Amino acid sequence: MATAVKTEGLTKTYRLLMQKEPVSAVSDLNIEVTEGEIFGFLGPNGAGKTTTIKMLLGLAYPTSGEAWVLGKPAGEIETKREISYLPETPYFYDYMNAAELVDFYARLFGIGKTEREGKIETLLKLVGLYQDRFKPLSQFSKGMLQRAGIAQALVNDPKLLFFDEPTSGLDPIAHSEIRDLILRLRDEGRTVFLSSHQLSDVELVCDRVAILNRGKLLKTGKLDELLTESSVEITTEKLDADTISKLKAVSNKILEEKAVVIVSLEDGLKSDQAIDIIRAAKGRILSVMPLRRTLEDLFVETIKEGSK
Ligand SMILES: Nc1ncnc2c1ncn2[C@@H]1O[C@H](COP(=O)(O)OP(=O)(O)OP(=O)(O)O)[C@@H](O)[C@H]1O
Ligand SMILES: [Mg+2]
Repeated sequence: MATAVKTEGLTKTYRLLMQKEPVSAVSDLNIEVTEGEIFGFLGPNGAGKTTTIKMLLGLAYPTSGEAWVLGKPAGEIETKREISYLPETPYFYDYMNAAELVDFYARLFGIGKTEREGKIETLLKLVGLYQDRFKPLSQFSKGMLQRAGIAQALVNDPKLLFFDEPTSGLDPIAHSEIRDLILRLRDEGRTVFLSSHQLSDVELVCDRVAILNRGKLLKTGKLDELLTESSVEITTEKLDADTISKLKAVSNKILEEKAVVIVSLEDGLKSDQAIDIIRAAKGRILSVMPLRRTLEDLFVETIKEGSK
């Protein structure tokens, strides 16, 4: 698969007049996004996500390092036809209505009248704004504006979409609709570069993620691999005190309930030892379960470890 986005040592430092110390927004970032995948770009507020996206779009210049988008250096005019951007706070001319907005952006891409009319209908239906197409954007709610932003981002039938917080301000129904839409975009063969704080959404849609903090990449990889932990939980019928104390040597947590014992092993490799101990005591194993952590667990751990 071809590479959709690649950065090498990408760095952005802001020097502000009133501040002595320069602000390091992005530092030495190396990431690679494969065509056709949904790539989650995660990090706390101020991590450098928007700054990176702006450099990839050619809206901000790197202090050092390089970036390529669809095989060409970031910011090339030609590439702009094939990519699109939903900014974190979309701003539109609010005297326009949604139909005029789509029409306006379609004109910018030189799309003819008949095709533009078709786009207005299909895109506004897609984002659930068709009923409200003649309402001025000044009367739109936050979520409606976000939907209008998504329609705008699809006007040029892009190969690669940069979504910066696409679900911010959306109600739960709209959240799941946008999630489905993002999956659909991938199924159509597009690449989605998704920056979001909605980790439950990211966990459901992304193929790979990168986690950054204070401009530095802390972790990147396939989501499935990052979330499959080695920890294991063994549940047995009640065990005697002697067996429990033996298990304590390999387990990091033992929970004794009325009828069962739950033995947690952070290091899954020790599960064989634990099973041997239980079997030797003629204990009855009810289940052995590998545990998968959530993206939120991974995110919090990664950020905490990174700031030690
Ligand atoms: N135009 C600018 N001038 C000076 N500093 C900036 C500018 N834009 C961003 N920064 C700084 O760069 C750092 C990264 O900001 P950025 O907007 O990229 O973060 P983010 O990860 O998108 O955060 P959020 O989740 O809040 O959107 C922050 O410390 C921010 O203050
Ligand atoms: Mg941002």
